[in-house]
Amino acid sequence: MKALGIDIGGSSVKGGIVDLERGELVSERFKVKTGAIPAPQVRVLDAFEELIRHFKWTGKVGVGFPALVRDQVIRTATNVDKAWVGCDIGKVFGKRAGLRVYGINDADAAGLAEAVFGNGRRHPGTVLLLTLGTGIGSALLRQGILVPNTEFGHLQFKGDTAEAYCSVRTKDRLGLSTKKWAKRLDAYLHHLELLLAPDLILLGGGISRKFDSFARYLTVTTEVRPAQMHNIAGIVGAAMVTRKKWRPS
Ligand code: BGC
Repeated sequence: MKALGIDIGGSSVKGGIVDLERGELVSERFKVKTGAIPAPQVRVLDAFEELIRHFKWTGKVGVGFPALVRDQVIRTATNVDKAWVGCDIGKVFGKRAGLRVYGINDADAAGLAEAVFGNGRRHPGTVLLLTLGTGIGSALLRQGILVPNTEFGHLQFKGDTAEAYCSVRTKDRLGLSTKKWAKRLDAYLHHLELLLAPDLILLGGGISRKFDSFARYLTVTTEVRPAQMHNIAGIVGAAMVTRKKWRPS
């Protein structure tokens, strides 16, 4: 059984065909850039349609969206066009594609994929996954069960939100060295460790491929690992919500 997984990001829309038994991409990963952040809603929908056409897809589609998603409806818009607030993912994206579409928060998608198929698989305790990119997304899972929409990137930290303090976008914007940025990330991880006592922290997003370049600056006692699927996790998890058993709402 296969589904198309689509990960909506701050500056691009990525997707691929996912084998739902094995939790693997069975196509290439295709990416369409949407330009400046926040991309206008219509650009994101155009990019989404381009992906559907690229894969000539006619089956079910799962969308990971970078905002709070409750009962398929987008409730917030921090790094995305405000026009998204109140949109039902199934309806808006479904109408564009003429296909059945299901939505989930992008970090929850990545967490789900890692918990079922990746580095959090069969973990007996509490797993916290963070996606590091334009914003900071979070997914909290206990024995594979997801608590959706945790949004720990929006915790107040050092006088602002955590994502304003240590997202990859902030690293780029302020021109922080890897060491300086990793020390900020480490401070944030200490805060999360104190609040949540996780048993495992997984770091996802594109920068997780460079985990070895910053792991030495992380001093938390909790085990920290890169997400096994790196930035593919969001695509795999988005495809997973086309199945009811993995859909949080
Ligand atoms: C959004 C989250 C999202 C994260 C990562 C944050 O700004 O509020 O919903 O998961 O960015 O994309």
